[in-house]
Amino acid sequence: MRKHHSLYGGTRDIVSPFFCTKILFMSSKFFFPALWFLSVVAAPGQEIDYKKQIAPILSSKCNSCHTAKKKETDKKPKAGLALDTPGGIRAGGVLEPGDASSSELYVRVSLPKTDDELMPPTDDGGPLSAKEIALIKKWIDDGARFSSGSGQGIGSIPADLDVAKVMAMPMREPNADGVVHLEGLGATVSQLAVNLPQQLVVEWISTYHKTTDKEIEQILHIAPNVVEVDLSRTKVTDDGLKHIGKLARLTHLNLSRTQITDKGIAHLSGLRYLENLNLYGTEVTDAILPVLAKHRKLKAVYAWKTKITPDGLSQLRKALPDAKLVLETDAKSNRYDNLDNPDNKFDF
Ligand code: HEC
Repeated sequence: MRKHHSLYGGTRDIVSPFFCTKILFMSSKFFFPALWFLSVVAAPGQEIDYKKQIAPILSSKCNSCHTAKKKETDKKPKAGLALDTPGGIRAGGVLEPGDASSSELYVRVSLPKTDDELMPPTDDGGPLSAKEIALIKKWIDDGARFSSGSGQGIGSIPADLDVAKVMAMPMREPNADGVVHLEGLGATVSQLAVNLPQQLVVEWISTYHKTTDKEIEQILHIAPNVVEVDLSRTKVTDDGLKHIGKLARLTHLNLSRTQITDKGIAHLSGLRYLENLNLYGTEVTDAILPVLAKHRKLKAVYAWKTKITPDGLSQLRKALPDAKLVLETDAKSNRYDNLDNPDNKFDF
């Protein structure tokens, strides 16, 4: 994972006089102005607004190096860290919400000018102003929230939203408020890859047992961006799959060990890009196979412990000769069961 090379990471174990000087230097030079500025930039109790106050600092002072969308060159963001989207920042592992001094994002901007780990580097615009540093500190200490309130400002999901409308929506930067709202409902939202910040994966990992159609519907706030969804063991019903059926760009769907039946699968017929469908441990029968045969992009269907028969599956094999259709348990078909293994994360 990410290499940790912070002031604290590097010198934590060595209680040297140098270390103490460094801390003293930091506090006299940066800490007091930071506090002073805070009284100017934000009244006590007033929340820092990520979009208005933090994103502009990151985009003007960091994005020349830390952006996932470097058009002019093919270079990856520096240190694999993209600071131009909430998803990129979260994926970078540089935030400890509520604790700025343990957050690499704050530590790196608050180092003394002489430290070669200072961000931005001194010959590339560093350091930030004391006011900017103070804003970042307060924002992280207050919980590093990307939207102003839970579910506020995201609007309502249009009643007539359907798969065609979602397909027509451009895949831009995800609605940050929508992401935060879903996270507030127990979902884990992550980007597919550091260089694919628009493509999101939604999972309910530890909160699956309290996740119902109502929470699942809220995915639609970020509908154009969702490419993978894991609903395994949630309380999703056939009706809830109506919402999933609108996620036009969905490629991976895990429905294992849910109560869904053939009726629910019918709602997925518009998902043209579906590649990977996990039905393990559900009640689905051979009746869904003609529906699945129409998903020309399907590469894998896991149907172990369902009512699908070997005969049914061999019919499907004729329609989808290149797809992997798994009826028996084997190490591979079953691998997504073990969610603790990070290798299983996106490959179900
Ligand atoms: C001129 C290019 C450049 C600019 C501008 C820049 N950085 Fe960096 N940053 C780097 C490089 C190169 C690294 C990797 C080397 C290192 O860790 O020092 C890095 C590393 C980091 C890391 C450590 C990542 C990790 O996982 O260890 C953080 C945090 C960071 N930068 C934050 C920022 C912030 C915040 C800004 C803007 C306020 C910024 N950087 C501006 C080039 C830059």
